[in-house]
Amino acid sequence: MLPTRLRKNEKIRKLIRETRLSMDDVVYPVFVIEGENIKEEIPSMKGQYRYSIDRLDEAVEGFKVAGIEYIILFGIPDESKKDGEATPAFADDGIVQQAIRKIKALAPDMYIIGDVCLCEYKADGHCCFFEENGDIKRDKSLDTLCKVAVSQAKAGVDMIAPSDMMDGHIAALRNALDTAGFESIPIMGYSAKFASTFYGPFRDAADSAPAFGDRRAYQMDPANGKEALKEVELDIEEGADIVMVKPAMPYLDVLSQAKDLSFLPMAAYQVSGEYAMIRTAVDEGLLDERAIFESLICIKRAGAEIIITYFAPILKKLLAKYQ
Ligand code: PBG
Ligand code: ZN
Repeated sequence: MLPTRLRKNEKIRKLIRETRLSMDDVVYPVFVIEGENIKEEIPSMKGQYRYSIDRLDEAVEGFKVAGIEYIILFGIPDESKKDGEATPAFADDGIVQQAIRKIKALAPDMYIIGDVCLCEYKADGHCCFFEENGDIKRDKSLDTLCKVAVSQAKAGVDMIAPSDMMDGHIAALRNALDTAGFESIPIMGYSAKFASTFYGPFRDAADSAPAFGDRRAYQMDPANGKEALKEVELDIEEGADIVMVKPAMPYLDVLSQAKDLSFLPMAAYQVSGEYAMIRTAVDEGLLDERAIFESLICIKRAGAEIIITYFAPILKKLLAKYQ
């Protein structure tokens, strides 16, 4: 057997190719900030921007040109509005709720996923509430997350994606959405979300770094693979429609094992640190641009139908060159 027979030229390589990427595979994270006339580059994430509501028309135009059909929204409220209750996360006129309405008005076909969490809206930058003794206040955290999800649903979101890592959140959110009449809105659980250093640039982008401690009391230990499968299983039992592994590249083993475990569609989040590393290496000439394509095709090969990636705006061009 000479495996190289099937590698001789691009024609034959294309014929036997197992995995292909398309714009239908990718979701683009979008940062929306309070204020006016803002389109500012995020210092830690070159080529990524924060937009104010009044500049979203320009952003949406860019998405159309780039072939982006799916986005996930993150909101950055005014610092002065952040409080102990995460109020701006579930306000009717909250930044994400406004952005959903505006984007739906500009582009009714744009599929909008709402990230559901508290860290960007809470004064202490944590994803949940705590008891005096430091334990997680689960009931209150879940109640608030439910308010966030329902307020986004009312604004017209297509799917919600809870990234908080609270136990029992999928069941609580499913129940809250159903009770409010939003049975048809799917939930994509950030099921195996690791306490990762690779989120660093995002916390800068979203101004959501915790004011004290870290997130290791609720996000997963990077050393644990079996536990990640337990998290995936729990989310499935609780009624998740899609399960996610995050970050992507250092956790492809988890992605692949989770894929074997479940019949649900799988998502992988190529996070801000993965983006920053590859972007910088390509910009510095240390890696060829093809590395971007390779990173994404490998995530798909490992088992993801859905890839959340900051490279979505350039994917169409990469596909024309490298696939
Ligand atoms: C908030 C949230 C984070 C990311 C997505 N939602 C950061 C965190 O948990 O600290 C990370 C995304 C990225 O790094 O690109 N819960
Ligand atoms: Zn959070």
